[in-house]
Amino acid sequence: MIWRLLSQSLSPLSRLLVAATVTIFGSGALTAQTINRYDSFRFGVSYYPEQWPESYWEDDARRMQECGVNTVRMGEFGWALMEPREGHYDFSLFDRAIATFGRRGIKTIFGTPTAAPPKWLTHKYPEVLGVRETGQPVNDQSRRQYCYNSPVYRQFSRKIVEALAQHYHDNTNIIGWQIDNEMNNENPECYSDSCRVAFRTWLKNKYGTLDELNARWGTVVWSQSYSDWAQIDLPFPTPAFHNPALMLDYKRFISDSATSYLDDQVEILRRYRPNDFLTHNGVFKNINYYTFSRGLDLYAYDNYPTFESSPRYLTGARLTLVRGFNGRMIIMEQLTGPAGQTYLLRTPRPGEARLWAIQAVAHGADGLLHFRWRAARRGAEEYWYGVLDHDNVPRARFGEFEQEGQELQKIGPQIVGSKVVSSIAVIKDFEDEWVFDYQYLTKEINVGAVYNALFQAASEQRYNIDFVGPNADLSGYKLVFAPQLALMDNQLTERLQQFVARGGTLVMSAHSAIKDRDNAFTANTIPIGLTNLFGVELDSFQTYQPPSDTNNAVRFDDGNVPPVDVFAEVLHPTTGRVIGRWERDYFKDSPAVTEHPFGKGKAVYYGSLFNVDAARYLIKRCTGETGLKPLLADVPDQVEVTCRTKGGTDFYFLLNHGDSPVTMTVGDRFSDVLTGKPETTSLTLAAFDYRVLKRERSAD
Ligand code: GAL
Repeated sequence: MIWRLLSQSLSPLSRLLVAATVTIFGSGALTAQTINRYDSFRFGVSYYPEQWPESYWEDDARRMQECGVNTVRMGEFGWALMEPREGHYDFSLFDRAIATFGRRGIKTIFGTPTAAPPKWLTHKYPEVLGVRETGQPVNDQSRRQYCYNSPVYRQFSRKIVEALAQHYHDNTNIIGWQIDNEMNNENPECYSDSCRVAFRTWLKNKYGTLDELNARWGTVVWSQSYSDWAQIDLPFPTPAFHNPALMLDYKRFISDSATSYLDDQVEILRRYRPNDFLTHNGVFKNINYYTFSRGLDLYAYDNYPTFESSPRYLTGARLTLVRGFNGRMIIMEQLTGPAGQTYLLRTPRPGEARLWAIQAVAHGADGLLHFRWRAARRGAEEYWYGVLDHDNVPRARFGEFEQEGQELQKIGPQIVGSKVVSSIAVIKDFEDEWVFDYQYLTKEINVGAVYNALFQAASEQRYNIDFVGPNADLSGYKLVFAPQLALMDNQLTERLQQFVARGGTLVMSAHSAIKDRDNAFTANTIPIGLTNLFGVELDSFQTYQPPSDTNNAVRFDDGNVPPVDVFAEVLHPTTGRVIGRWERDYFKDSPAVTEHPFGKGKAVYYGSLFNVDAARYLIKRCTGETGLKPLLADVPDQVEVTCRTKGGTDFYFLLNHGDSPVTMTVGDRFSDVLTGKPETTSLTLAAFDYRVLKRERSAD
C-alpha cells in the first residue's frame, strides 16, 4: 500500500529507479586494490577557479609553485557549471584551470561535485531532497541537501560522475579524486520516502522474515509487533521512547546508505581512471568509517584545530582516529588562518597554523592541502581565510605557508609511506557510539572524550597510540584498551581472548560487554562472554550524576586514587585478583578493579569509565608492567613527540605547542631531516616550532 502510494507520488524516472536502488545494499563491498596508487607526498591548497577571474589563475599557479605546491583540489562544488542544464555538460572552465596548474607541474585532485546539486535538479525533481525528522524537506539554498537513497539523485550523481570520468579519462594532470564532500556533515539523518522504502529493504535483507525481526527487536514490548514490512517506519518523533534495536539499525542503515552511495562513484571512477587514487574527506556522525573507507586508497581528514578549545590533544586524537580507518591518511583541508561562517573562530597565533599542519604529518598524514588558497569575497564562506586575503596581497600567513611548503618539500618525500608504529591500541567500535547516542544514560557519557583521554595520557607519557576497529588484528600490540564496548559478539570475545592468551594486556572499562549486537541484554552474566577472561562478574553498579568525579574514586593497591567517571561498578571476582577498591559510598571497599592472568597475558577490568586521571594511571601502570619504553625520555611538557617508521628508519617529530622556546636533550645518532646535519644531543625549539629528526634502527 505504502509502496503504491509512494510510487504514485514519484516521477516516472524515480519509479524506474526505486527498483534499481533496492538491490544496491546487496551488491557487496568494493574493496581498494592492493596496488599503491598514492606514492608521493602531496602539498597544496583547495582552489576554486569558478570563484575567480581567469586572469588570476596564471599568477596563482606561479605563486603556488614558488611555495612548493604540487597539488590543488578543485571541482567539488562546481556541478551547476559542469551541467548547466540537464544532460548538457561543460567542463571547459575546469579543463583550462587544470591545464594552467599542470603547466607549472601542479597536479589536480578532482572533487566530484555531488555535495551541491544545481537548482534545476532540485526544482525539477524535489524528491531528491533530504527530509528532516519533522517531515519537512530540506531547503535547497545551501549544500548537502540531498538524500543518499533517492533513486533520482543516485541516477544524476552517477551520470555527472560518469561524464566527468569519461571527459578526463586520459588527462595526465589529474592524479586522484575526492568523492563528494564531507558526507553526513550537515545531513547526518534523512527521513525521506526513499529512505523509508530503502530501510525496509535493508531490514528484509538483514532479517529475512518478520518473525525474526520481531523476535530480535523484542517488538512484543509495547505492542510493536509487525505483521507487514510496510508497518515499519523510520524513527520519527514519537510520544514515548523508541526501541533501541530500531535506533541502532537505523544508524547502521544510514552508514550503509552513505557507503553504497560512495561506492557508486568508486565503481565509476575505477572504471575510467584505474590508476588514480580515490579518497573522501571528513568525519561526521552515523558512518562506520572502517567499512565506509574500504574501497578508498586513503582517507582524508579536514583538520580545523581552532574548533577545539585545546587543540593539541583533541586534534591529535582525531588524527589518530582517522589514520586507523583504512591505514592511510591525507589532510584534504588544513586550517590556514581565521575561520568562520556566521561565527568566527579564534585566529591562530603566528606559527600555530604551520605547527598544526606538521602535527598532522607527525600523526601519519601522507599529504596535506590547506583550505584555501584565497579567502572568498562572496558567498557563505567569506569569513574563511586562506593563504591569501580577499585583496590578494601576501601577508604573514602567506609567509608561513611558503615556509611550510619549502620544509615539506624536504620532509615529505622522506616520510611518505612511513607508519606510526604503536604498541598501545584502543578499540573503537562505531556501533557502540551509536548505542550511547540514543541511550545516553547521563549527560557525562561522551564516547569521544574517552578516546581523547586515552590519547592524551599516552601522548603525555610519550607513547604512540592507535585507535583500531573491532575487527583489527591485535597481534602487533602489547597493551589494548577496550573502552565501554557495550555490544559484544562471539568474534570479538574470541579476538580479545586470543590477544591476552598470546601475551597481551587488555584493559576493559565499565559498561562493556553488556549487550549483544541486537542492542539487547541477554541471559548471560556481564561481561558477556568474558567472565572467564577477566575472572570477574558484574555484581551491581551505581550511576553518578554530573559532576560524577566528586562522588567516588578507586583506591588502587599502590595508593593512587583516580576519581570515578559516571559508573562505579561493584565487581564479584571469581578467579580475578582485586587491585582497586571503592573509596566511598555504601559499597566502600568493595572490588572496583581486578586483574587476571590468562594464557601468557593479563586481563584488567576497570569498574568505571576511562577519564584522563584513570587513563594516565592505567597507562603508567600497564606500560611499566609490560616493559614498554617511551619514545623519548625527559621531554618538556609543552613538546609533543610522535614517531613514524619506514624500513629501518625512525622519524621523530618534536612539536613545541608552547608559546615560549624550550630546550631539550635528545640523545645521539639523530640527524635533522630539514638540514640533513647530525643533531647535537641538546636542542632548542622556538615557540610553536618543530623538528623532525631521524635515526637508523639498525644502529640500536
Ligand atoms: C569544510 C568543507 C569545506 C569548507 C570548509 C570551511 O567542512 O569541506 O567545503 O566549507 O569546511 O568551512
